[in-house]
Amino acid sequence: MMIDYPQDATPLDHDEIVGLKILHITTREELNRFEQDNINEAMQWLVTRHKSDILTEKFIKTLHNKMFGKVWRWAGSFRRSGKNIGVDWMQIPVHIHSLLADVRYWVDRHTYPHNEIAVRFHHKLVWIHPFPNGNGRHARLMTDIFMKTVLKQKPFSWDNENIDINTRARSKYIAALKKADTGDYSTLMDFVQSNSKTF
Ligand SMILES: Nc1ncnc2c1ncn2[C@@H]1O[C@H](COP(=O)(O)OP(=O)(O)OP(=O)(O)O)[C@@H](O)[C@H]1O
Ligand SMILES: [Mg+2]
Repeated sequence: MMIDYPQDATPLDHDEIVGLKILHITTREELNRFEQDNINEAMQWLVTRHKSDILTEKFIKTLHNKMFGKVWRWAGSFRRSGKNIGVDWMQIPVHIHSLLADVRYWVDRHTYPHNEIAVRFHHKLVWIHPFPNGNGRHARLMTDIFMKTVLKQKPFSWDNENIDINTRARSKYIAALKKADTGDYSTLMDFVQSNSKTF
């Protein structure tokens, strides 16, 4: 299959493409559609699931599996290959553990305002880049679930546009993440709370 990736998406290596469960997919558009259907099922599952602690490695993996498990064999498993972004793959569990501990600490000690805790959580999760693909969509949903269940507040608007594909919102989102890579979260804070449709 030929996959043309959107800007700053993670390309899959050969072994990962072999993990495609639906063999008749031939285009990126078809793949997107199957993934989106799978994500919609995950949203249904979220409503009915047994409410457990979400700040765990187990939940992070379960959510990824629910979102992509019908499409990819490696869904719900941390990556075993290097990517253009992300930590060394052998260090993923360690980084995830320290992120989860940090987030708990920030919540308990009120280290940052709630929105900033959620933004820092989101950025660090995509920065670690735990999965072969789907990291952006997974980390955005994970952040929304975190805001609802732990912070007890409304999730972000994420600019109310489809940032999975090449849009102006996506360019703004990626630029804001790159700035956050340098420790400056201000642009990402603005982005997640903005709504271009109101302009
Ligand atoms: N410089 C960066 N720093 C941190 N995170 C980044 C950076 N560049 C890209 N990302 C994140 O990586 C994601 C792309 O990774 P991946 O392809 O695994 O996820 P995805 O869900 O398939 O992506 P998407 O749906 O956003 O196309 C982006 O959506 C963004 O969240
Ligand atoms: Mg991708």
